[in-house]
Amino acid sequence: MYTAPRMSRLGTETAFEVLARAKALEASGVDVVHLEIGEPDFDTADHIKEAAIKAMRDGFTGYCAAPGIPALREAIAEDASRRRGVAIDPAHVVVTPGAKPIITNTILALVDDDDEVLYPNPGFPIYESMINFVDGKAVPLRLREENDFRFDIDEFVSLVNDETRLIIVNTPQNPTGGILTRKELEVVAEAAIKHDCFVLSDEVYINIVYDGKHESIYSLPGMAERTILLDGLSKSYAMTGWRLGYGVYPPHLVDHITRLNINSVSCTSHFSQYAAIAAITGPQDHVESRCAELKPRRKGIVDGLNDIPGFSCRMPGGAFYAFPNITGTGRKSQELANALLDELGVAALSGTSFGEFGEGYLRFSYANSIENIERALSRIREYLA
Ligand SMILES: Cc1ncc(COP(=O)(O)O)c(C=O)c1O
Repeated sequence: MYTAPRMSRLGTETAFEVLARAKALEASGVDVVHLEIGEPDFDTADHIKEAAIKAMRDGFTGYCAAPGIPALREAIAEDASRRRGVAIDPAHVVVTPGAKPIITNTILALVDDDDEVLYPNPGFPIYESMINFVDGKAVPLRLREENDFRFDIDEFVSLVNDETRLIIVNTPQNPTGGILTRKELEVVAEAAIKHDCFVLSDEVYINIVYDGKHESIYSLPGMAERTILLDGLSKSYAMTGWRLGYGVYPPHLVDHITRLNINSVSCTSHFSQYAAIAAITGPQDHVESRCAELKPRRKGIVDGLNDIPGFSCRMPGGAFYAFPNITGTGRKSQELANALLDELGVAALSGTSFGEFGEGYLRFSYANSIENIERALSRIREYLA
């Protein structure tokens, strides 16, 4: 049966497919350790849930403003201004169901046939998928293990040119846990200004930085007018299922992105937005304590992976992913990921789920209990010993 040709260019996020396979195995009685999906294992804080329940009781159950309700846009602008050190106008904030639509809408609004887009590889797969879908030219910017999964500056400079429409940066990074320093961000900013292109800065893991401090390209001089700042509540507030994300846009894009919302989702769930206000303006100690809880898990998984024959793993600086090099096993990434799930009941992702430069790696999400992480590691260690 017919489908439009563009559908053959649309990629996917393999985490959801592996999750479905792992759940099916579980339903057939297999004991599966889930280290595949990028989801905190913490629950949403009670005061956030209460705000949503109150909003439902108060009748906020219908359609609402397409770019987000004013009180939430104001709360986001205030919070994002304070954290990035740049004044942000609430009118430039657009709220979406999850942060993903900010990627989709930004690429739809900016990228046309053959426009070049530089994106991190290995990187969040939706970037490459959407660039290809709109028939842009996807230009992978390789993240290098020897550089703690930052890109090489000379390589970056050689790839950006006057055909570049958009540069995507993601820090802290999925899938490597890498962190960009101010130095790399300054190079990106300089190139974006020189070649007059836009930057999409994906900062959904802003609250999960273990050492040092998060740097945002949005804060650099001259960048707010050409940067789309992407953030959301999924990872920071353990709210993946609530579907709450947002973008801060240069003024000329706001109406276009709002129309994309109207054409696709109409608006973001009304009562969820009250929960978002409670999350952003309420106590932040639970956010900090969860990051502190992830720290020993990071050490546990990295040490454990380094004990597995054929594996070597760098200490990630942020997010909740370990990205070990598995070339010493002599196995291909996808083949090994399949074997771990089918033979051991350990769900992890092949590095190739994140692009061609992910070959030779696996991704493990360690937003899981130490006990589960250890169960997975001992199964893999025994299997490869
Ligand atoms: C780098 C990155 N950006 C965006 C998203 C999308 O987040 P959300 O679940 O809020 O749509 C994710 C989710 O895994 C991510 O890892």
